[in-house]
Amino acid sequence: MIRLSILIDRVKRVAFIRPEGLYLVLEIVPLANIATHAIESLLDAAFEPERKRRTSYLIRANQPWLPALSFAARDAAGFFCGQLQCTRVSLTTPEGDVQPITFVGPLAVLPSHQAHGVGRALMGALMSAEERGLSDTDAFAVIGDPDYFARLFDFSAALTQGWEVPGPVDRHRLLAKTTRVGGLPCVARLGPPMLGTAPFALARTSA
Ligand SMILES: CC(C)(COP(=O)(O)OP(=O)(O)OC[C@H]1O[C@@H](n2cnc3c(N)ncnc32)[C@H](O)[C@@H]1OP(=O)(O)O)[C@@H](O)C(=O)NCCC(=O)NCCS
Repeated sequence: MIRLSILIDRVKRVAFIRPEGLYLVLEIVPLANIATHAIESLLDAAFEPERKRRTSYLIRANQPWLPALSFAARDAAGFFCGQLQCTRVSLTTPEGDVQPITFVGPLAVLPSHQAHGVGRALMGALMSAEERGLSDTDAFAVIGDPDYFARLFDFSAALTQGWEVPGPVDRHRLLAKTTRVGGLPCVARLGPPMLGTAPFALARTSA
């Protein structure tokens, strides 16, 4: 597949040309351009009904998403078809050192639009924003499929094996990446900034 990306000011347009001739143009815009009810409807369509019980929601704990690092995708007809939210959370070490980290997700694409590169374009917009200095952290974490986030975006479960999270998680799906000098703490709690200091149970069952 040949992919062409054109960056136009703050709006990103992505064209995909497939061998079979399909052609899809996406527009990546700030998520702030999209109404809250439309975002919720898209998340309802992409995830199971119990999505808000996921450990990811406990890690974010209703923290607002970051406007500079959250994006929406519109298809060639202008239809809202995908979104990516990022939230500022914390890594807290046993010594009480608190480090900011950007929690990636939910990343969601309408089922009708999946496997056409929309998720990749949204993640590309995030990586591009980070390269342009729009992120005030140099570390990212996500709970997701390693075959997607590790293979395509260099996230690694090796960085998170000593981390605690406030709910059940498949350890191989707890992923991180960083350019931070000295790396990330091997042992830490990942959670919302104001979380108390009591240790979490280190959950190893699936979410
Ligand atoms: C996961 C998701 C965001 C991917 O978005 P998408 O637009 O369908 O994926 P893309 O077209 O960008 O995929 C790019 C590549 O990843 C692959 N891929 C897609 N979803 C994948 C998954 N869950 N696991 C592994 N690989 C995946 C595609 O086959 C494609 O591979 P290729 O480039 O080798 O052909 C989307 O399927 C989705 O919304 N799923 C439900 C919600 C979810 O699970 N979100 C992730 C956790 S927050």
